[in-house]
Amino acid sequence: MIEKIEEKFKNDLASVSSLEELEVLRIKYLGRKGEATRFFIGLKNLTPAERSRVGQAANKLRQKIETQLSQRKQEFKDRAAVSSQRLDVTAPGVRLRQGHLHPRTQALRQAIGIFRSLGFSALEGPEIEVDWYNFEALNFPKDHPARDMQDTFYVKSSVGKEDLVARTHTSPMQVRYMEKNNPPLRIIVPGRVYRREATDASHDYQFYQVEGLMVDKEISVANFKAVMEEFFKQLYKKKIEIRLRPSFFPFTEPSFEVDISCVFCNQEGCRVCGQGGWLEVAGAGMVNQSVFKNAGYARNEWQGFAFGIGFERIVMMKYHINDIRLMSGGDMRFLKQF
Ligand code: FA5
Repeated sequence: MIEKIEEKFKNDLASVSSLEELEVLRIKYLGRKGEATRFFIGLKNLTPAERSRVGQAANKLRQKIETQLSQRKQEFKDRAAVSSQRLDVTAPGVRLRQGHLHPRTQALRQAIGIFRSLGFSALEGPEIEVDWYNFEALNFPKDHPARDMQDTFYVKSSVGKEDLVARTHTSPMQVRYMEKNNPPLRIIVPGRVYRREATDASHDYQFYQVEGLMVDKEISVANFKAVMEEFFKQLYKKKIEIRLRPSFFPFTEPSFEVDISCVFCNQEGCRVCGQGGWLEVAGAGMVNQSVFKNAGYARNEWQGFAFGIGFERIVMMKYHINDIRLMSGGDMRFLKQF
């Protein structure tokens, strides 16, 4: 009887092909009612002599089965370990997912390259500013209604007494730079700015501006217009008309809004330009003499223009993007398209 079970176990074991099947086999033979454990249940009905003989034989059987099961288990484990380490040089490769630059960064690098070719150097400024550079040095006195043009995130300072703000524009770098450098100068300052803004398709609470500043003895609005025309021509790879509309900024005099001819419809009128044929892209003007004074220059000695391009808007036109919020959203379905 015991020999038969041993024989049967050997056959069963030979056909096992996985760890799971091995476990099923263990329960079949060594489980509470298993084929090799059943004997122990009937032992109490036997005479002492028989009990000892059958008991010993059953124990031996159980040990043999246990040993063989654990040998087999080890074999399966060894085989799995080997196959996981094996290098199959013929297997198809695993494609590495390659990232790429954000569309705004791509366009920004292009813009910096264009301005460099026109003699401008690019630099950065702090995103958390003191009130002086963001507002006062630019002629926005405290409590002046002009501050309402740029609703602001104020930041509590844990060190100094001065108010801190998440900069609302890149213009603070005008005075910061001029304090340390003398004309003639030509700079651009790309960077992120923040406004307390209810967002919509063309307004976000964080966006990029590219500030520009050119100062020398005889700089005029004509120089500004020429720089803008060349910049947009190179960016959009076609001739772009520039239109200046009178506007107001406390730190420029005169001030203007800069429009470019619609890059989508060539001024025939479309949804993007609201049928008007023009798109607003920047604020600009001739540097106010009191800004020169706040930077430490003598009044009426220098002339210059400054501009602040809303950078997302020109990126959106370049790539036909219809909602500015996509630019900072991090949605891969959007980003993968560039
Ligand atoms: C300024 O920020 C001035 N510092 C620009 C300037 C610089 C004027 C130098 C004179 C001399 P304004 O608030 O208009 O101006 O913003 C400039 C551009 O930023 C706008 O033309 C627009 O393209 C963009 N912009 C403004 N608000 C938002 C917003 N919430 N979301 C996205 N872009 C915006």
